[in-house]
This record gives sequence, structure tokens and C-alpha cells, in this order.
Amino acid sequence: MPKPSRTQKQIAERYKGNLGYYRKLHPWRRARMLVSLVALFGGLLSIFLYSKRGPEKFFNAGKISADHASFENKCDSCHDKNAGGGNFRQVLRERFHHGLAFDAIDRKCETCHQQHTFHEANVVQNKSCSACHQEHQGPGPMKMVASSQCASCHNNSQTMLASAQKGMEMNLHAQDRHPHSPQQVVFKLPRPPQGFTSTFAAFWENHPDFQIKRVNARDPDVLRFNHQRHFAADIPPVNGQKLDCNYCHKPQPDGRFMQRINFAANCQTCHSLQFDWRNPELRIPHGDVDLVRTFLRTLPAQYGDYARLKRGMSEREVPSFVAQQIKQLRDQFHSGDELELAVFFTTNPYKPQEKSAPATRANFTGCAFCHEVKEARGVPTITKPILVDRWMTRSVFNHAKHARVACDTCHAAMQSRDTSDVLMPAKANCVTCHSPQGKVVAECSTCHNYHAPPAAQTVATTTTWRELLASGR
Ligand code: HEC
Ligand code: HEC
Ligand code: HEC
Ligand code: HEC
Ligand code: HEC
Ligand code: HEC
Ligand code: HEC
Ligand code: HEC
Ligand code: HEC
Ligand code: HEC
Repeated sequence: MPKPSRTQKQIAERYKGNLGYYRKLHPWRRARMLVSLVALFGGLLSIFLYSKRGPEKFFNAGKISADHASFENKCDSCHDKNAGGGNFRQVLRERFHHGLAFDAIDRKCETCHQQHTFHEANVVQNKSCSACHQEHQGPGPMKMVASSQCASCHNNSQTMLASAQKGMEMNLHAQDRHPHSPQQVVFKLPRPPQGFTSTFAAFWENHPDFQIKRVNARDPDVLRFNHQRHFAADIPPVNGQKLDCNYCHKPQPDGRFMQRINFAANCQTCHSLQFDWRNPELRIPHGDVDLVRTFLRTLPAQYGDYARLKRGMSEREVPSFVAQQIKQLRDQFHSGDELELAVFFTTNPYKPQEKSAPATRANFTGCAFCHEVKEARGVPTITKPILVDRWMTRSVFNHAKHARVACDTCHAAMQSRDTSDVLMPAKANCVTCHSPQGKVVAECSTCHNYHAPPAAQTVATTTTWRELLASGR
């Protein structure tokens, strides 16, 4: 223990004759009290004055995002003017109540962004805009909406159960949040009776497998096409290259989805619709029944043109050439009608070609080789192929972002023989990458929209799916 510098005695000596010392205010202590009071009241006063006339920025909670930078100082774009966020009392009030009152701000958002509330008509309680789109987080773009915001409903069994219930009362089967342009052919499965209300927290966890896989959907197209057959060894190369997916499936200009299959571009090189092996350059036109019938009924004229243009024959030679070709055809088909029937209704109308190699054979196919052909009042009709442009409209996909992933990672096309096979990937095909293990983003908003586009915001809750189908939408 250190030795005290002064003894008790010495200290007592100092206050001798001055025993009222502690009752008097020392000038220094007085000054200290004054300074404290001035600081306290001055601070309060300046806060009061600032909140009345100072620049609003003083109370800013943080930098406004780049999206809204153009009006970052007009606080009243988002905050009510009289009870604005720039108001001290408001800030205090909100701090001491349960968090912020978002209602007023939401209404402000909606003055500029109309029709952003609608997610699903059967939600039991909408979320505030500002819960998902957080402002005052810094000058960059607004942050991506967190999956936890989606999970606040989608992983809450009470909420989803209530929504399923509400959906049944509303007769929601006509709800279509994902409209498409009339030119697009879209594969749509009906909404399940319970809606899409199963609960899960993350894509790589219980997120349901895609409906198209769950219900084992079939492709409605009746066009015959066998993917597997076209990768066999006897399929001739085109321009020295074996067929690959890209020969038939070319990306659209933006790279998101594929262009629709086209006979002239994707099939005709090998299925050229030749019908007379002696004159292979003469071909039946494709795509229009009337045109084909006209062509077959004017064969002499077709042979005439062919002789002049392709064979370079003189006018003198043409008639005998034409007569000879028609006679040869007649030997085979007996009459024009029989030829027409053969072309339309049989898969391999041209007998002499049956024994040749597949590559040659493929050029001599009839319409029924690929099409369902029916007869209506003596006229053949082709069931129009349904070439689907979009299969899973409830999510957004982008092929361009997967350009380095092999097609058959996602599409088991090489093993498919029937058009009716749906070649869409299953969830498992995605989880290998889109998961913490796969190290690729797997937020809900990576693959889904939240807001319905304006065209879908008004829902006719009374029409049924059946009525929708009937109206051709
Ligand atoms: C684009 C809309 C927008 C603009 C412009 C805007 N705010 Fe906000 N502000 C919000 C939202 C949304 C909230 C709710 C909480 C959040 O997201 O941080 C908020 C919250 C606040 C809060 C409460 C913060 C807290 O954490 O308690 C204050 C204070 C505030 N704003 C002040 C201002 C001021 C001052 C200005 C003008 C310089 C301004 N705001 C401009 C959208 C905006
Ligand atoms: C004064 C009009 C106005 C108000 C009020 C407003 N915004 Fe905006 N907002 C805009 C403009 C302009 C843009 C940038 C252009 C665009 O992409 O639409 C934008 C962009 C956005 C974007 C990003 C769009 C994108 O393409 O990434 C989001 C999200 C957004 N606002 C949400 C909100 C929310 C939430 C509120 C309310 C807190 C709000 N806005 C209030 C005008 C407004
Ligand atoms: C307020 C609650 C709520 C929130 C928050 C919510 N959802 Fe939903 N969502 C629902 C309900 C309810 C359904 C079921 C609709 C039905 O019954 O058909 C649904 C259905 C869906 C569907 C399938 C149906 C379709 O037409 O697309 C997707 C996808 C979806 N939500 C994505 C999201 C994403 C992504 C988020 C977050 C950005 C989100 N949801 C946030 C309530 C919510
Ligand atoms: C010779 C042309 C051709 C080649 C080569 C080809 N396809 Fe197709 N593909 C088609 C035709 C025609 C259809 C439409 C008929 C159908 O659905 O089978 C189609 C449809 C598809 C569909 C969507 C239809 C569905 O039912 O899911 C996918 C996916 C697909 N092909 C993937 C592939 C992949 C992957 C490859 C390469 C391994 C490939 N295709 C090679 C012609 C081709
Ligand atoms: C590279 C040449 C080539 C291309 C391109 C091609 N095919 Fe083929 N296709 C063949 C050959 C060869 C056969 C086998 C013919 C045979 O065995 O008689 C065949 C067979 C078929 C068959 C019968 C399959 C079966 O299961 O027996 C159909 C149907 C068919 N092709 C449709 C198409 C369609 C539709 C396209 C365009 C989307 C197309 N092909 C493109 C060469 C091709
Ligand atoms: C090798 C297979 C194949 C053969 C053989 C074939 N088609 Fe097609 N046809 C297709 C494909 C693939 C489509 C869809 C793509 C397109 O329209 O180009 C199609 C489409 C059509 C269409 C619909 C066109 C439209 O505008 O939607 C008609 C009509 C048609 N074909 C008629 C015929 C007739 C008539 C024949 C016989 C002379 C025939 N096809 C032979 C493959 C074939
Ligand atoms: C990472 C997985 C993945 C890969 C790799 C992939 N696809 Fe797809 N593909 C999809 C999904 C998902 C869809 C459904 C898109 C939709 O309709 O929402 C699709 C749709 C399609 C369709 C039908 C719709 C359309 O866009 O026409 C065709 C055809 C197709 N893919 C061909 C291919 C070909 C060819 C390749 C290789 C060059 C390929 N895909 C690579 C996932 C993939
Ligand atoms: C081999 C890995 C791999 C597989 C398998 C895969 N993805 Fe991806 N995906 C990626 C990568 C890498 C990105 C780019 C991520 C980025 O931009 O940060 C991506 C991006 C995406 C995007 C965002 C596209 C955009 O516009 O930004 C969607 C949606 C998507 N994938 C859906 C799917 C679906 C659905 C499947 C399954 C059918 C799938 N992916 C399978 C690697 C994969
Ligand atoms: C890698 C892409 C991807 C991610 C990440 C993802 N989804 Fe999905 N989701 C899909 C695809 C693809 C479908 C099938 C869409 C269809 O059938 O049209 C789907 C279907 C759904 C459905 C309909 C379910 C049903 O019963 O058929 C809901 C609801 C949904 N997703 C919500 C979410 C939510 C919430 C998250 C975030 C926790 C999420 N998704 C993350 C790709 C994804
Ligand atoms: C449950 C979360 C959630 C809520 C609540 C929400 N949004 Fe969004 N919002 C999203 C997601 C995710 C996107 C990204 C793409 C999409 O879904 O369209 C988005 C995109 C946007 C965009 C830019 C793209 C577009 O469609 O123009 C605007 C603007 C926007 N939201 C405004 C609002 C407004 C205003 C509200 C309130 C009325 C709101 N959001 C409520 C999740 C949400």
C-alpha cells in the first residue's frame, strides 16, 4: 500500500475556521452547471428549429438508391409532407411505436409505380413495398429482394393454408399471372385445387419439383418426331457435320429461348419431299394442302417448267419428256387421285425408294410420315403442329446464362423417341448448381417474378379454367 502524501491531521488543518465550505457554491461548479443547461436546452431548441426550417437532409436515414437519386432531396416524394420522415417528431414517434408505419410510404410508392401490389389474388395479407425494397441503404442500385421475404409467406404453413382456403372460395382457377403475347404458344397446366401453397424455405430444400414433372405432363403435339432416331449412325451429315441440337434449335436473338422449329430450315435438307426418283430436283411444295393439290393436278406443267429451267431443254424436246414422265408415274400410281392419296395418307408412298439407304429414303416421305392426316369431305387436312414456345411460365429462364452447360444436362432429348415426351428438366437438374453446394445464386428472385405484369392485374375471379380454354386464351 502506498504511503498517503498527507496525513489526516494535515488535511483537517486546511479546513480550520472554514467549516461551512460544502454549503457554498464554488464559482467553477456554478459555471459547469450553466454550461450543461445551455447545452441541453440549446440542443433541443436547435433540433426543434431544424425540424421546422432546416434542410430535410439533416434527418436522412441514409443515402437514397441510384434508382431514386433524381429526387433524393424531395423527401416528400416518399414521406408525407406534414408528418414527413424528415420530421423529428415523426421519427421519434415511429421509433417508440412498433417500428415504422409503412402504409403511408407504400401509398407514395404507388403514386409512381402503379399496379405493383398484385402477387396472387388469394394472399391473405399483402406485404409492404418497403419490406422487400429497402431504401436508404446506400447510393447503389436497390438490393435484390431477399428470399426471406418470400419465405415469410411461402414457408409459413398457416398463411399458405389460409390462402389455399381463400383460393377455393374465390374460384381462382382462372387466375393467370403470366400472360403471354398471342403469337406465343404456351403450355399451361391448370392450377391445382389447393393452389401453389406447399411450404418450403429454400430452392435446394423443399421447393416442390416442377409441376410439369410432378404430374408427368405429355406434349400435346401430334407432329411425329423422334429425337433419338436423328442421332443414329445412319443419319447423313449436313455440310460435313453430324446433327446436333443447334442444327434444329437456334437461340432467339436475345438468347433466352429457342426459335420455333421450321420445316424449311430444319427438316427439308433430308426430307426434301421428292416424289420421282428419276427427277430428284422436282419437289412437292410444303406447308399448304391446297398448294400441294394444285401442284399434283398440274404435273404436266410442273414437268414442263422443270425440263426448261433445270434440265435446260429446248421447247421442242419438252413435250415428249413430259409425256414420258407422266406415263412412268401412271405406271406406278394408275391415276392422279391415287397419287394424291398416296402423297397425303401414306408414310412411304414411293415404292422404288423403300429399299434404298435411309438417307435417300428420307427424301421420299409422304405427309403422313410426319403429320396426322385426316379427311374432311374428300379433302385431306393436316392437324396443325403445336410447337410450344414456353413450357414453364411460372418462372423465368434464360438459356444465354447457361450457354456453357451442355443441352443434355437439362434435356434428355437423346433418349426420347416420342413427341409426346416432355423434355423439360426436373428440379434436381438445377440444384446441382443453384444451391450452396453448387455455389450459384438460388434466391427466389433469381428464377421468379413477384409482381404480375399490368395486363394480368385485373383477375376475372368468376371465370373458370374451362371457360378460359373455350375463349381461346
Ligand atoms: C424513394 C423514396 C424515399 C425518399 C425519396 C426518401 N425516403 Fe426516407 N424512407 C423511405 C422508406 C421506404 C423508409 C422506410 C425504412 C427504410 O427502408 O429504411 C424511409 C425511412 C426514413 C426514415 C426513418 C429511418 C429509420 O431508420 O427510422 C427517415 C428519418 C427518413 N426516411 C428520412 C428521409 C429524408 C430526410 C429524406 C429526404 C432527404 C428521405 N427520407 C427521402 C423512402 C424514401
Ligand atoms: C416520384 C416517383 C417515384 C416514387 C415516389 C417511387 N419511385 Fe421507385 N422508381 C421511380 C423511377 C423514376 C425509377 C427508375 C426508373 C425505372 O426503372 O422505373 C424507380 C425505380 C424503382 C425500382 C427499381 C426498378 C428496376 O428496374 O430495378 C424499384 C424496386 C422501386 N423504384 C421501388 C419503389 C418503392 C418501394 C418506392 C416507395 C418507397 C418507390 N419506388 C417510390 C420513381 C418513383
Ligand atoms: C403475402 C404473402 C406472399 C409473399 C410475401 C410471397 N408470396 Fe408467392 N404466393 C403466395 C400465395 C398465397 C401463392 C399461391 C397462389 C395460389 O394459390 O395459386 C403464391 C404463389 C407463388 C408462385 C406460384 C404461382 C405463380 O403463379 O407463379 C410463385 C412462383 C411465387 N409465389 C413466388 C414468390 C416470390 C419469388 C416471392 C418473393 C419475392 C413471393 N412469392 C412472396 C403468397 C406470397
Ligand atoms: C432434326 C431436328 C432436331 C434436332 C437435331 C433436335 N431437335 Fe429437339 N425438337 C425438334 C422438334 C421437331 C421438336 C418438336 C417436337 C417434339 O416436341 O418432339 C423438338 C422439341 C424439343 C424440345 C421441347 C419439346 C418438349 O417436348 O420438351 C426440347 C427441350 C428439345 N427439342 C431439345 C433438344 C435437344 C437437347 C437436342 C440435342 C440433343 C435436340 N432437341 C435436337 C427437332 C430437333
Ligand atoms: C440430317 C438429315 C435429317 C434431318 C435434318 C431430319 N431428318 Fe428426319 N430422318 C432422317 C433419316 C435419314 C431418317 C430415317 C429414314 C428411314 O429410316 O426411312 C429420318 C426419320 C424421320 C422420321 C421417322 C422416325 C421414326 O421413328 O421412324 C420422322 C418422323 C422424321 N425423320 C421427321 C423429321 C423432322 C420433323 C425433321 C425436322 C424437324 C427431320 N426429320 C429432320 C434424316 C433427317
Ligand atoms: C419430315 C417431316 C414432314 C413432312 C414429310 C411434312 N411435313 Fe408438314 N410440317 C413439318 C414440320 C416440322 C412443320 C412445323 C414447322 C413449320 O411450319 O415449318 C410442318 C408444318 C406443316 C403445316 C402447318 C403450317 C403452318 O402454317 O402452321 C402444314 C399445313 C403442313 N406441314 C403440310 C404438309 C403437307 C401437305 C405435307 C406433305 C406434302 C407435309 N407437311 C409433309 C414436317 C413435315
Ligand atoms: C440449365 C438447364 C438448361 C440447359 C443447359 C438448356 N436448357 Fe433448354 N430449357 C431449359 C428450361 C428450364 C426450359 C423451359 C423454359 C420455359 O419455357 O420456361 C428450356 C426450354 C427449351 C426448349 C423449348 C422452349 C424453347 O425455348 O423453344 C428447347 C427447344 C430447348 N430448351 C433446347 C435447348 C438446347 C438446344 C440446349 C443446348 C444448346 C438447351 N436447351 C440447354 C433448361 C435448359
Ligand atoms: C451447371 C450449372 C447450372 C445448372 C445445372 C443450372 N444453372 Fe442456372 N445458372 C448457372 C449460372 C452460372 C448462372 C449465372 C449466375 C449469375 O449470373 O450470377 C445461372 C443463372 C440462372 C438464372 C438467372 C438468369 C438471369 O436472367 O439472370 C436462372 C433463372 C437459372 N439459372 C435457372 C436455372 C434452372 C431453372 C435450372 C435447372 C433447369 C438451372 N438454372 C440449372 C448455372 C447453372
Ligand atoms: C433455380 C431456379 C429457381 C429458384 C431459385 C426458385 N424457384 Fe420456384 N420454381 C422454379 C421453376 C422452374 C418452377 C416451375 C414453374 C412452372 O411450373 O411454370 C418453380 C415453381 C415454383 C412454385 C410453384 C410450386 C408448385 O407447386 O408447382 C412456387 C410457389 C415457387 N416456385 C416459389 C419459389 C420460392 C418462394 C423460391 C425461393 C425460396 C423459389 N421458388 C426459388 C425455379 C426456381
Ligand atoms: C414480397 C416482396 C415484394 C413486395 C412486397 C413488393 N415487391 Fe416490388 N419487386 C419484388 C421483386 C422480387 C422484384 C423483381 C422482379 C419482379 O418480380 O418483377 C420487384 C420489382 C419491382 C419493381 C421493378 C420492376 C417492375 O416491375 O417495374 C418495382 C418498380 C417494384 N417492385 C415496386 C414495388 C411496389 C411499389 C411495391 C408495393 C406496392 C412492391 N414493389 C412490393 C418484390 C416485392
